[in-house]
Amino acid sequence: MARYSVYDCTMIELDKHHSDRKGNISVVQNGDTVPFDVRRVYYLYDVPGGESRGSHAHKELSQLIIAASGSFRVTLDDGKVKRSFMLNRPYQALYVKPGVWRDLDDFSSGAVCLVLASEVYQAEDYIRDYDEFLNYRKQK
Ligand code: TYD
Repeated sequence: MARYSVYDCTMIELDKHHSDRKGNISVVQNGDTVPFDVRRVYYLYDVPGGESRGSHAHKELSQLIIAASGSFRVTLDDGKVKRSFMLNRPYQALYVKPGVWRDLDDFSSGAVCLVLASEVYQAEDYIRDYDEFLNYRKQK
């Protein structure tokens, strides 16, 4: 298992094609902007104010997290250091590497959290218990 730290997880600037009168378009495509091939896309929406999501780590999965609309906070934790990112620009993506715990909270009204994932859904790739996560990080 790779031991990625929160400092290996970075904000990526996406393409932003601007048109004065007609709005913007941002593009994410395999072999170009994304550091992995995208195998799954999902999105969180209608998250009530005050609620939090996430609270897990992945063993192998990499993700790009984008605030497609509105804003929310992502707090990453590698077992030693925590680092928070406020996501509020649809042309920025947070690259979350495997083995890093994430909590999402502070969702604005109408926020849409778009996630591009390197793998299809596999329940066994999740670590949902924080103590188990800390033990996992200590393993050789
Ligand atoms: P969960 O991962 O717990 O949401 P979050 O961590 O973002 O708060 O997922 C909620 C439910 O949706 C859970 O029953 C699993 C299911 N799910 C899928 O079936 N496929 C998926 O790709 C995802 C992300 C979740």
